[in-house]
Amino acid sequence: MDMQPIKTLHRQDILHGAQFNREILDALILLTQQIQTTLLTKRSLNKLAGLVLATLFFEPSTRTRLSFETAMQRLGGSVIGFASADATSVAKGESLADTIRTIDQYADGIVIRHPRIGSADEAAAVAEHPVINGGDGAGQHPTQALLDLYTIHAERGGLEGTSILLCGDLKYGRTIHAGVELYKHYETRLILVSPEGLRLPSEILDDLTRDGVNIEETSDLADAVPQADVIYMTRIQKERFEDPQEYERYKDEFILTREMIERLNPEITILHPLPRLNEIDQLIDDLNNAAYFRQARNGVYMRMALLFSVLIDQDQ
Ligand code: NCD
Repeated sequence: MDMQPIKTLHRQDILHGAQFNREILDALILLTQQIQTTLLTKRSLNKLAGLVLATLFFEPSTRTRLSFETAMQRLGGSVIGFASADATSVAKGESLADTIRTIDQYADGIVIRHPRIGSADEAAAVAEHPVINGGDGAGQHPTQALLDLYTIHAERGGLEGTSILLCGDLKYGRTIHAGVELYKHYETRLILVSPEGLRLPSEILDDLTRDGVNIEETSDLADAVPQADVIYMTRIQKERFEDPQEYERYKDEFILTREMIERLNPEITILHPLPRLNEIDQLIDDLNNAAYFRQARNGVYMRMALLFSVLIDQDQ
């Protein structure tokens, strides 16, 4: 069967986790599976030939930018963009809106990462072409959340009823802010582990509570770990702290060790959006439970599913 784009995503901006419903998520998981399987025997799919994606990264990135670029190229399209705004007219003082309006004249779609919360929404408001949020400060990172969701599905054969432990910087962690808006569609139980001062923002928590999501909040990782099917570790987001000493206080608070894992449910799945600092002991890396590099690879498949659905010219 030829693969079909998800029609409801056509020419849509991808800005927030909350924009996805269960139907679109199920369709994205299915399409991503199809793409992953197809890539076992083919290097690329000629779906977006002639189309250009712009990747505009005003903040550091390894996986998000390079996996978007890989995804676009494996779909037969091409890529323009920058990995740092230093060499662009932003350094001359150009506004974000003007930069976006200009690149919108060149490209068929735009991926943006920017330190300001709401920046992707601002870009989407001025661009004619679809805008994809690759991380807006401590706001949202929906495509990472989608690939995390896909990875849980791929590793465990499903999501329904899973207990997901989310640990680390829940205050500034944008992958988590977007992720909880997806997990809630699958009857998951969320175990939120953070220092007292880095808890999930109350507006997100209130939203989940209103939706009847089963949530537990704690600061004790060792105590919470045995209850989890999935452990999602995150980095303390150093660049978001005004006071460097505050970061120092938090930085090594939660470390997942091999000993903790070996005492547990042998089926446990360990994820991390990466980059990792000390949150996961490297001795865990060679356990099959450690899914974080497979998770990074899944980023290409999920982003192919998104780009294919958003950018393909359906009139052809
Ligand atoms: C995350 C991000 O940029 O928010 N990284 C990523 O996209 N894989 C997580 C982080 O930087 O800690």
